[in-house]
Amino acid sequence: MRGIVLAGGSGSRLHPVTRAISKQLLPVYDKPMIYYPISVLMLAGIREILVISTPVDLPAFRRLLGDGSDVGVSFTYAEQAAPNGLAEAFLIGADHVGDDTAALVLGDNIFHGQGFRTVLAEQVTRLEREKGCVLFGYPVRDPGRYGVGEADETGRLLSVEEKPAQPKSNRAITGLYFYDNDVLDIARGLTPSARGELEITDVNQAYVARGDARLVDLGRGFAWLDTGTHESLIEASQYVQVLEHRQGVRFACLEEIALRQGWITADAAYALGERQASSGYGEYVMDVARRAGARGQAG
Ligand code: DAU
Repeated sequence: MRGIVLAGGSGSRLHPVTRAISKQLLPVYDKPMIYYPISVLMLAGIREILVISTPVDLPAFRRLLGDGSDVGVSFTYAEQAAPNGLAEAFLIGADHVGDDTAALVLGDNIFHGQGFRTVLAEQVTRLEREKGCVLFGYPVRDPGRYGVGEADETGRLLSVEEKPAQPKSNRAITGLYFYDNDVLDIARGLTPSARGELEITDVNQAYVARGDARLVDLGRGFAWLDTGTHESLIEASQYVQVLEHRQGVRFACLEEIALRQGWITADAAYALGERQASSGYGEYVMDVARRAGARGQAG
């Protein structure tokens, strides 16, 4: 499965904070926002990841992430000239996807929960066997702000609607989407919506019409955090801070995930931590690597 992180947009809802920096590079407590969605793809076992952003912001993402080889993945980059809609990711990323299945994650979506890796791995395997798409639903108080899905008891989606005035369920469709290869053709066939965008909900609607769109519920034990407003952004930081501080672990630590996936050695992870040794994050990476058998010593 090939991964795409869509990290463009104008960030206008957070101006002036995002006038000179991409929203997806803002800190969520101790790391840039984009680390969180990238960690989701890595947890799903995806190693070929295309990062899409605006022509202005793309160099900063490159500077942050490089070619990915240090964390055992491949990051490539592509521009989205204007925010023409989420589904444009599959026009821009068509060559990257090739004849594989595809996962799209929005660069501002933060997921956290026990067993997420297992949930993701199950769905990747399923999509390699069966046609269709897999969307991830999350119960919210205010579904009308999101894409909303209605599913039968087997998880088959019966409808998806974008920001409906009268939501048919409280299930928001989160910004993580798994598709079979047909998504490329479906995206090519889209026309812009009334607001002038190629809508991801229209892609999902095409799968609903075929009868092979599935919804996986992320239940109460999961966190799917909003980053759309100043309040929700600070709440997301607080959530990460409270749990990391209490548990002594860090979420979305790309070096740690790469190590656990067996993509890099403990010594290599240690060296990555050492490069950032003056931050708590770097110290944490060194510590994790040491516990995994790295030869490096403290101090
Ligand atoms: O977060 C999940 C929601 O994301 C879904 O429930 C909705 O169905 C989906 O449409 C989307 O809703 P938003 O209102 O959050 O979409 P927004 O236009 O804000 O874009 C989401 C992110 O993607 C945002 O960080 C900007 C970025 N983006 C957006 C567009 C339209 C791009 O990179 N390129 C684009 O063309």
